[in-house]
Amino acid sequence: MTEGLPANGYTDGDVDTNSTTERSLESMAAERYSRRQALFRGAGATTMAFMGTALLAACGDDDDQEGVSVSAGANAATSAGRVVTLTGSPENGYGGYRTGWAQTSGTTVELIGSGSTVTFIAPGVAAATDLVFTFTATSSLGKVRTATTTVRVSPGVLGFTAVAHSLADVVKVPTGYSVTVMTRLGDPLATGVSTYANDGTDGNFAQRIGDHGDGLHFFGLAAAGGRDDNSSTRGLMVQNHENLNVQYLHPNGPTNVSTGPRPAAEAIKEIEAHGVSVSEYVDAGSRKWSYVPTSSYNRRITPNTPMSFHGPAAGSAMLVTAYSTNGTAGRGTINNCANGMTPWATNLTCEENWAGYFRRDAADDAKRSVREMTAFARFGVTSRTGNYAWSFADSTDSIYTKWNASIIGATAAEDYRNEPNQYGWVVEIDPYDPASTPRKRTALGRCGHEGAFVRAVNGQKLGVYMGDDSRREYLYKFVSSATYAAADAATTSRLAMGDKYLDTGTLYVAKFNADGTGQWLPMVFGSVPNRAAVGSTPEYVFADQADILVNTRLAADALGATPMDRPEWTAGNPVTGEIYLTLTNNNAAGRPINGTDAANPRHYNDPKGASNTVQYGNPNGHIVRLREDGDTTAATTFKWDIYLFGADAADAGANVNISGLTADNDFSSPDGAYFSRATNPAGQFNPVLWIETDDGALTDRTNCMLLAAIPGHVGDGGAKTITNTASTGATATQATVVGAPATAANLRRFLVGPVQCEITGIDSTPDGRTLFVGIQHPGEDGTPAAPSSHWPDSQTGTPAATVRPRSAVIAITKDDGGVIAL
Ligand code: FEO
Ligand code: CA
Ligand code: CA
Repeated sequence: MTEGLPANGYTDGDVDTNSTTERSLESMAAERYSRRQALFRGAGATTMAFMGTALLAACGDDDDQEGVSVSAGANAATSAGRVVTLTGSPENGYGGYRTGWAQTSGTTVELIGSGSTVTFIAPGVAAATDLVFTFTATSSLGKVRTATTTVRVSPGVLGFTAVAHSLADVVKVPTGYSVTVMTRLGDPLATGVSTYANDGTDGNFAQRIGDHGDGLHFFGLAAAGGRDDNSSTRGLMVQNHENLNVQYLHPNGPTNVSTGPRPAAEAIKEIEAHGVSVSEYVDAGSRKWSYVPTSSYNRRITPNTPMSFHGPAAGSAMLVTAYSTNGTAGRGTINNCANGMTPWATNLTCEENWAGYFRRDAADDAKRSVREMTAFARFGVTSRTGNYAWSFADSTDSIYTKWNASIIGATAAEDYRNEPNQYGWVVEIDPYDPASTPRKRTALGRCGHEGAFVRAVNGQKLGVYMGDDSRREYLYKFVSSATYAAADAATTSRLAMGDKYLDTGTLYVAKFNADGTGQWLPMVFGSVPNRAAVGSTPEYVFADQADILVNTRLAADALGATPMDRPEWTAGNPVTGEIYLTLTNNNAAGRPINGTDAANPRHYNDPKGASNTVQYGNPNGHIVRLREDGDTTAATTFKWDIYLFGADAADAGANVNISGLTADNDFSSPDGAYFSRATNPAGQFNPVLWIETDDGALTDRTNCMLLAAIPGHVGDGGAKTITNTASTGATATQATVVGAPATAANLRRFLVGPVQCEITGIDSTPDGRTLFVGIQHPGEDGTPAAPSSHWPDSQTGTPAATVRPRSAVIAITKDDGGVIAL
């Protein structure tokens, strides 16, 4: 009478692909389920409602003289992360008996509930493991009866049915899962802030959730307040706000975006809708999540928030502005894309595509040194207006004029010529202290920082892995000088701990060799050669370490790093320590057929739409992974392979669909990457890797998506030679190293988002039973008069055609309370 019931009635692919005669968990579960139904006929709705992944019963035999008897039934089988219900119901007992369950052996689990029915989450295990439980019933006369039952827990497997392609204007998740919309663009973060009207009339984004939510992290809060890394019921959601759907922020879109003056009242909305938000999330019980609009922890960090500079470039003449005449301070953060978190519970927000926000007038070029012009060209500080023309606002306030980086004054201390150098950093934020000043960590270099995955191993140096998201940019690693001591994680001086580990160390850039090996090239002044002349751009000679850190891309060029197909997020496998790097895509110019290499090996066409629009280059992207030699963060060499290749399974041939994707798991343009936390079964032994897409190539078939994977390891595949094809019909071969193909068991689509969105930002509660995911820029191609998405209103209803879309965070829970994905 013991059961192993799959939550969703799916069949695991691991069994489908297994040629042995072992029976699947699911077939055994189905058989037991039917037996259980027979046995418990008439057990009632309450019992059924408790039924999770496995339901065990130690139920009454015939009466004995005490009216209480127990017995244990057949043993149950389940897998990590699933809910198991233990039920002992002495059906013929009478009032006065006491019952209870206790664990007697096996990996310790927390029994939830009391009396005859308790539940637990099957723990993470390396191999099939038996857990034994004892049911005890005590009669009113003090007679005690016990019985035991055994639950065999197998290692975690993906436990949901793949979500199909979707072009609908809703978030789709697997059967058995639910979506709760959390903080949305414009939601109030302080007392007295009005409800968001969402018609373009709202202001005061310095006290509202910003636009284009991106990287996010859940920082646990204790019931009494303050940091609690183990809390899964209350926490601070720290979310980046990367950019804008500017057309929806004003009643009829922005006025005059390309020439001045712009109304400052419009510009300030757009400025303040960028940055970072901190908002309190709370579970009212059983994962009924909401946010707390008036929490004292709520905070907005905007492009106007005071910041301080730390590390080797702090105080550099290159950082001097009229705001900070000694180059040690600045205001604000911009284009905050992905993130990272430290063991001491601070948030790392990463400044990505900052260059385009600045204006430099045509006359400025002649006032600049050759070195400055080289740097501007390398980073793309070339706009004459800036993305949103904020410096053309009808105000002389420097919160607007600082976006004009032209030389105006006599010295750098009199204008904002160096303001672009104040962006492009990794910024550390203490989410628990709303009054704290964020710190820009210059030792980690300056580029189009996508994310910053921190690998902290007690007794090793801290390692921070960082992608630079532009075509043909690089992968970086920062290694601390200090050796990491796990006891430091508990500090209450969190930003000071950041000073210890993030201000002194060595920055490296990656070189991927053709044979599956790689090197970390140190970016240390004195050992970095001059950056050679390129065309009419002369040689660049580095002046000091600060120069290398401000002009990181130039130094990486000089070292001969490997240009990649747009490095996005980094994520570390919590078990193996292997680092995954998404390479979202490249075009034909960035990755021509004669410009492939082993780590960026494809050039092909992915035809799109009914008209078969051509998309040459690497339009679908791939994911590379590496393992440090010696498994140490400080290693200067590594092994790599290509874990996964994006592809349109319906269009791609074998030279493109190298990972063997199907309609259940094909994807394009991987961006977000995140491993489930090691604090729950999804992040243990064989951790789940989550992959988010920001795609425009497969969008004829489906909106952007989130996939769950259980990846193998570097070296689980082998050498492969790909035949590439160019638009001319020319072909060329490229040798590379690929991982094992995807299967239905180890890669499944978990979510598809609404119209014209990007899926970005992901974290879970420590228990893994709630997954938070960011839905960015739904309806990005619509107009104020005709929004092209109405999400999130469309998630639960049929909104009017005029309802504007809003980026938002969603909380995903499993209806039976199990660990997400398993
Ligand atoms: Fe902001 Fe590279 O995505
Ligand atoms: Ca296609
Ligand atoms: Ca991104």
